[in-house]
Amino acid sequence: MKKIILIFIGLMALSVYAMPNVVTVFANQHSFYKSSNIMCISCHFDIKGQVETGDVFFKHKEAALNNTYTTYLAIGGISYDTVTRNITVYGNYNWYWNGSVWINDSNPSQYKNETLDENRNGAIDSGELCMLCHGIISGMKAHAGSMAVAACDDDRCHGNRNYIYDDPLILGISANVSAAGYNISSNNIHSVYYLTLGNQSSPYPEAALFGYTHGNIYNNYVSRGYYSCLGCHSEISMNINLVRSQTYNHSGTNEPRGRYQ
Ligand code: HEC
Ligand code: HEC
Ligand code: HEC
Repeated sequence: MKKIILIFIGLMALSVYAMPNVVTVFANQHSFYKSSNIMCISCHFDIKGQVETGDVFFKHKEAALNNTYTTYLAIGGISYDTVTRNITVYGNYNWYWNGSVWINDSNPSQYKNETLDENRNGAIDSGELCMLCHGIISGMKAHAGSMAVAACDDDRCHGNRNYIYDDPLILGISANVSAAGYNISSNNIHSVYYLTLGNQSSPYPEAALFGYTHGNIYNNYVSRGYYSCLGCHSEISMNINLVRSQTYNHSGTNEPRGRYQ
C-alpha cells in the first residue's frame, strides 16, 4: 500500500514537472510545446518500445515528418492540390500556401506550418511520433485530463465505411492507403469482422474534431472497428487448433460404414 502511495506521489510530482511551457509560434491560433516538455515516453515507456518496432510505425514516422501532412491534419484538411499546395478543410474553406505557411483564406490572421519534429533533428523520434495519433489530429497538444485516440479507421487516416476524407495525393500514396478502412467495409471477405466491431464502442471517447461526427464513432466513443486492422497489422498472434476430419480409406474393407448418412 505504501508503495502505491509513493508511486502516486511520484506521478503527481512528475505531472507537475511535465506541465509544458507554452511557446506561441503562430498568432491567434495554436501553441507549440517544446519537445523537451513532451514527455509522453517518460510515463508511457512501454509504448516507446512498441513504436520503435515494425514497419507500420516506420511508415507513420515518415508521414509525421511531412509538414504538409501534419498541417493538413492539424487544420482539418480533407483535400490537397498538388500544384498550388492549397489545402481544403472541412466546410470547404481554403488555406493557401504563401511560400512558408498556410493561410486561411477566410481569416488571414490564421496561419500555420505544423511540425512534429520538435527538436528539429530532421527525424521523428519515438516521443515525437505520439502526437500524430494522440495530438494534432484532435487539436490537442498535451494531456488535459484525458488524451484523444485517433484510431486507424479515422476518416482522415485510413477511412471507414462512411467517409474517405484523407486525400492520398498529399503523401503521393496510393488511394488504398487512405481507403483501407473503406475497402474492408465493403465487398471484402473480412468485412463481417470490421462491420461487427464497428457497431461496438472502444473505451476511448469521441474527440470533438472540426465540428463533424466521424464515421468510426459508435455511441459517442471511437468504435472498435480498428480492432480488425490490428488483427492483421500488429503482433497479435493466434493459436489455432484445427481439428482434422477422420480420413476414410476407400479401399479398406474394414472401414466403418454409414458415414454419409
Ligand atoms: C506524468 C505522466 C504522464 C505523461 C507525461 C503522459 N501521460 Fe498519458 N497517461 C498517464 C496516466 C497516469 C494515464 C492514465 C492511465 C490509465 O487510465 O490507466 C495516461 C493515459 C493516457 C492515454 C489513455 C487515455 C484514455 O482516455 O484512456 C493516452 C492515449 C495517453 N496517456 C497518451 C499520452 C501522450 C500522447 C503523452 C504525451 C503528450 C502522454 N500520455 C504523457 C500519464 C502520463
Ligand atoms: C499510429 C497511431 C499511434 C501512434 C503513433 C501512437 N499511438 Fe497510442 N494509441 C493509438 C491507438 C489506436 C490506441 C488505442 C489502442 C488499443 O485499443 O489498444 C492507442 C492507445 C494508447 C494508450 C492507451 C493504452 C490503454 O491501455 O488505454 C496510451 C497510453 C498511448 N496510446 C500512448 C502512446 C504514446 C506514449 C505514443 C508514442 C510513443 C503513442 N501512443 C503512439 C494510436 C497510436
Ligand atoms: C485480413 C487481414 C487484414 C485486415 C483485417 C486489414 N489489413 Fe491492411 N493489409 C493487409 C495485407 C495482407 C496488406 C498488403 C501488405 C503488403 O502488400 O505488404 C495490407 C495493406 C494495408 C495498407 C497498405 C496499402 C498499400 O496499398 O500500400 C494499409 C494502409 C492498410 N493495410 C491498412 C489497414 C487498415 C486501416 C485496416 C483496418 C480498417 C486494415 N488494413 C485491415 C491485411 C489486412
